[in-house]
Amino acid sequence: MKDYSPRSDLLADRVVLVTGASAGLGRTASLAFARHGATVALLARDEAKLEAVYDEIVAAGGPEPAMFPFDLAVADDRGLETLAGAIGHHLKRLDGLLHSAHLFHSLTPLALQTLDQWQALMRVNLIAPFALTRACLPLLRQAVDASVVFTGETHGHQPRAFWGGYAVAKSGLETLTRIWADELGADSTVRINTLIPGQVATTLRARTHPGLSPDTLLRPDDLMPWYLYLMGKDSLSVQGQTLECQP
Ligand SMILES: NC(=O)c1ccc[n+]([C@@H]2O[C@H](COP(=O)([O-])OP(=O)(O)OC[C@H]3O[C@@H](n4cnc5c(N)ncnc54)[C@H](OP(=O)(O)O)[C@@H]3O)[C@@H](O)[C@H]2O)c1
Repeated sequence: MKDYSPRSDLLADRVVLVTGASAGLGRTASLAFARHGATVALLARDEAKLEAVYDEIVAAGGPEPAMFPFDLAVADDRGLETLAGAIGHHLKRLDGLLHSAHLFHSLTPLALQTLDQWQALMRVNLIAPFALTRACLPLLRQAVDASVVFTGETHGHQPRAFWGGYAVAKSGLETLTRIWADELGADSTVRINTLIPGQVATTLRARTHPGLSPDTLLRPDDLMPWYLYLMGKDSLSVQGQTLECQP
């Protein structure tokens, strides 16, 4: 996939919603989608950081993005439906949805993880991606073709000690992907997949592996061929799959 070379207008005239757009992979993906023609709806909590991404896209000559400061930890169905309604109202369409926002506490034995921590982990990493997708589905169905990408995690795929509720929530995304693809059926214009980035130099990796030099890791930009492939028409036949950027 590192050799995948998307056309410069791959996402022209498309609207893509990105959660976690203020930092890390979500930020880099927002910039990459805009460079390839997409109008990006930027979602995260920190308005100042969203504004910085907004400015970067505009300065690079990309289509003017939209900002949606929003907290996925406290969202309910009504709030998510209002959000989807605002996207439809302001941007008129939705062709893609990348779920990159996440909550991570620390690597800890299960015996020390609390119910409150698990509830927050499930809420941001599994329930919000499900409920936001559900709220956006009517808009996504109106597109000629639409792509939903959940961001998985290696330890959700191959569980290891200490990854606890974070990995359990991430593994749920893979199950959700398969159930949803099955329900949508072979003729669906909406495709749903999970992408597992593997080790990437972001703040998450600095927290989980503080001893690892970022110079030994791929950078978010290195993974963009995967993100662009899944968001654009070249992946029309990919449905219900979990793909690993670094198997
Ligand atoms: N980095 C890696 O090595 C790696 C490996 C495997 C998988 N992943 C996955 O890739 C994705 C991105 O990871 P990353 O390392 O790039 O993340 P990151 O740099 O920590 O950024 C996380 C993003 O999520 C947003 N966010 C957090 N809580 C939120 C909430 N309650 N509501 C709305 N937005 C919220 C943050 O913005 P605000 O603070 O502004 O809200 C930020 O934009 C995650 O799903 C992660 O599991 C990463």
